[in-house]
Amino acid sequence: MCGIVGYIGFREAWPLVIKGLKRLEYRGYDSAGIALIGDSGLNIYKKAGKVSELENFSVGKNLSGTIGIGHTRWATHGAPSDRNSHPHTSNSGTLSIIHNGIIENYATLKEELLKRGHFFNSDTDTEVLIHLIEEIYKNDDVDLLEAVRLALNEVTGAYAIVVMDQNQPDQLIAARKGSPMVIGVGEDEYFIASDATPIVEYTKNVIYLNDNEIAFVKRDELLIKRLDNVVQTPYIQELEIQLELLEKGGFDHFMLKEIYEQPRSIRDCMRGRIYPNEGFVQLGGIKEYAEKLKNIDRIIIVACGTSWHAGLVGEYLIEEYARIPVEVEYASEFRYRNPIITEKDVVIAISQSGETADTMAAIEMAKEKGATIFGVCNVVGSSIPRLTHAGVYTHAGPEIGVASTKAFTAQVTVLTLIAFYMAQQKGTITKAKMVELLTELDLIPEKIQRALESNDLIKEIAAKFKDSRNCLFLGRGSGFPVALEGALKLKEISYIHAEGYPAAEMKHGPIALIDEEMPVVVIATKNSSYEKVISNIQEVKARKGIVLAIVTEGDTEVKKMADYVIEIPDASEAFLPLLATIPLQLLSYHIAVLRDCNVDQPRNLAKSVTVE
Ligand code: M6R
Repeated sequence: MCGIVGYIGFREAWPLVIKGLKRLEYRGYDSAGIALIGDSGLNIYKKAGKVSELENFSVGKNLSGTIGIGHTRWATHGAPSDRNSHPHTSNSGTLSIIHNGIIENYATLKEELLKRGHFFNSDTDTEVLIHLIEEIYKNDDVDLLEAVRLALNEVTGAYAIVVMDQNQPDQLIAARKGSPMVIGVGEDEYFIASDATPIVEYTKNVIYLNDNEIAFVKRDELLIKRLDNVVQTPYIQELEIQLELLEKGGFDHFMLKEIYEQPRSIRDCMRGRIYPNEGFVQLGGIKEYAEKLKNIDRIIIVACGTSWHAGLVGEYLIEEYARIPVEVEYASEFRYRNPIITEKDVVIAISQSGETADTMAAIEMAKEKGATIFGVCNVVGSSIPRLTHAGVYTHAGPEIGVASTKAFTAQVTVLTLIAFYMAQQKGTITKAKMVELLTELDLIPEKIQRALESNDLIKEIAAKFKDSRNCLFLGRGSGFPVALEGALKLKEISYIHAEGYPAAEMKHGPIALIDEEMPVVVIATKNSSYEKVISNIQEVKARKGIVLAIVTEGDTEVKKMADYVIEIPDASEAFLPLLATIPLQLLSYHIAVLRDCNVDQPRNLAKSVTVE
């Protein structure tokens, strides 16, 4: 969590850093700050609240300077407040730092520094680090780069940091371990950020800093070393991000825009990968492992949150078509067990951001035990694709809304392709069946477009549900992960308590919650469990629950029982999650808007969870 931006060059740093922080606000938005060095020396402005509050607070102040660092925070150590906001400064006040991550041994370091007379102004681990850097800088007779390098060799934990020295306004020092960092390469200017979005409008040339690397950045010079002092050759890559995807494009919120982008994002995700006429799937990212896939014993899917829900859909599809046993694990639980993993296992790590700390730790553990690791990630160049042996990008484009929408459906699409690809390799599916499935999959973007047409109806239904205190989501088969995802969306952006449950499990407990005030959203499309779901709806109605059913176009049975229905186009069971998710995303969105919630930046959350 936390977003960091640094700039050194010939432009005014303030507007550039502010704009960059706004792009990174999805990473954390409880406080923000910027440090600049201009003609009048070092100026630091910090404020609890969003970047816009920092902007308002700074009106009329001296904002000049062509070197600066900025931070948008998601609090870990110390409550969100002005004093805990970054940048933090050293004991003498001349060094300033921004930091994303956690310094785990900060308490021991702080104790030592206190004994040496240091005085701290915040409750953060970050302030301890900049004091440590200054202590080494002053006592060891080394330059700042070396002082940062030596200090980082003393800390444990995760970080992406940028350090600026008031007395040397021609340099920035940046380093990373476990938290992302990108360096944009311009003409006589460099940009540093947590991801490429603050950089893309100035340069397409970027360097993704690797773990344990430290960069010495001047206006016309860049030196990258490892923490063990070995100089590295920077690898410059070209960015492919389209600028318009970073703007709201006429929509009120990024979330709504991203919901509406799904016909396109799913099409992008399938492009060049499916050949419906030939009944063939091609996945370049994992083709090196095509032979291995014929003989694997098991697949373990690790992920968190929405990505974990996509994993559950993947389990259903891979077992159905490729006949390989699948286990779906919360990365945060998996990493702290002692799971049995062998060289014949394939672990699929799913992550939109490619930076989730728990998922990364689960990958490291499975890798040590000899498993082959595939990544299913959205952010190109993020940490997980670089940690894994192979993988398939989802190509959904930047997802800015904290609540995941288009990334989820793209993950499900990739997992569908992986299931079909594995089935193709293992020979567990006929060519004719493959032609049939891929032909239908190819039409899913159009069907999603049709599902989006229910938006006005969903808005009306949202008005009826907006004051609910609880909500139950029920589904069977691959409708169960859809129910889980629907409940997560509702709770995270509208703060209504919601639970997703397998429809048949309701009678084992949650049925006790049902009364005339309880909305129950049921995935009741025409598939193999249709009749059973109808019985579950009867059970809810018998207890006076309010039923909102997601049904297949033209349904008449469920309509007789449910209080509200939303139709989605007919599709095979394999593709149900891609369609049934759409109305649930819109429902949460409209409820949250009606409740006046901050849809794109819900309280307490951050998009990229880079801490445990
Ligand atoms: O970037 P990741 O996919 O690894 O993130 C995992 C979860 O943090 C994420 O899906 C989270 O649950 C979202 N807020 C859901 O909308």
